[in-house]
Amino acid sequence: MAMEGAQPSGARQILTLTVNPALDISTATAKVESSHKLRCGASRVDPGGGGVNVARVIQRLGGRSVALFTAGGPTGEAYRRLVEAERVPSLVVPIRGSTRQNFTVDETSSGRQYRFVLEGPELSEAEWVSCLDLVAHTVPRGGYVVASGSLPPGVPDDFYARVARLARENGARCLVDASGSALGRALSEGVFLVKPSLRELAEHAGGALESEQDQMDAAAALVSGGSAEYVALTLGARGAALASSSGVLRLRVPSVPVVSTVGAGDSFMAAFVLRMAQGRPAGEAFRAAVAAGSAAVMTPATELCHRADVERLEAELRSA
Ligand SMILES: Nc1ncnc2c1ncn2[C@@H]1O[C@H](COP(=O)(O)OP(=O)(O)OP(=O)(O)O)[C@@H](O)[C@H]1O
Ligand SMILES: [Mg+2]
Repeated sequence: MAMEGAQPSGARQILTLTVNPALDISTATAKVESSHKLRCGASRVDPGGGGVNVARVIQRLGGRSVALFTAGGPTGEAYRRLVEAERVPSLVVPIRGSTRQNFTVDETSSGRQYRFVLEGPELSEAEWVSCLDLVAHTVPRGGYVVASGSLPPGVPDDFYARVARLARENGARCLVDASGSALGRALSEGVFLVKPSLRELAEHAGGALESEQDQMDAAAALVSGGSAEYVALTLGARGAALASSSGVLRLRVPSVPVVSTVGAGDSFMAAFVLRMAQGRPAGEAFRAAVAAGSAAVMTPATELCHRADVERLEAELRSA
């Protein structure tokens, strides 16, 4: 099948995969407390979920990707329309259940943020197999497949491992952002890049990884053990590390006003894969990724990063 999502500059193609998308509803209220009705301000609705967020950020940064995602019920319909409105090319796998909704509330009196994350509809075997079939038919040869986000009920925990295998068999590179057993199985299969947070890496390694040295060593061990060519360990406000066969790079974050950290990980992933697809070296992709993650924390609630912020921070990191 021809991919309609070619990069404008003829760069390599990117397919993102989201099996558990969510309509992200966000709003604000003065104070979150029990029993009373909480009067909220204006609300905002975004099409969220790992892979789709990655595709949306790629779009904002001037690149192109195709977002493959499941959608069902009235919420799924709304979700598809929102993705379409952002002009992100999509491939939809219809499902019987209804696309889930997540709810984020900013408490204005304290600056705290509450995130309610729902489980998502159960997928039948036929449905998740359809996702894999569509991946198999649309893997961009010589390009990138980004598998990101949680797996909904019904989907086996080797799902991302299967995606990684399909990518490899079709000459594409697979990037995974997942946790728990879905992450573990993907690493056993072997991937191009994995982007764990410290918590995800520590859980996988089975230790607390308290010192920075332990953290770098755990990332490097995944590379030397053949689980991933690149390990991008993101450390929130402490920045990130990139382990590969040429060693470990460490970047601190530029100082930015922290408004909402929602979407930082997805923005990181988006900038990384976009720069790689554009043929840039990994070190440069890593710098862009840290810049995009930090730009994402400057925007309110579920809002993604702005291109101008990413480019400014990228330049700052280059000259640092
Ligand atoms: N408080 C912060 N200040 C500046 N930059 C940040 C902050 N939090 C995150 N970032 C940037 O975003 C990147 C990814 O963030 P983080 O490590 O929180 O990812 P994550 O845990 O996957 O996030 P998510 O909650 O989106 O899944 C970091 O490497 C950093 O560049
Ligand atoms: Mg994350």
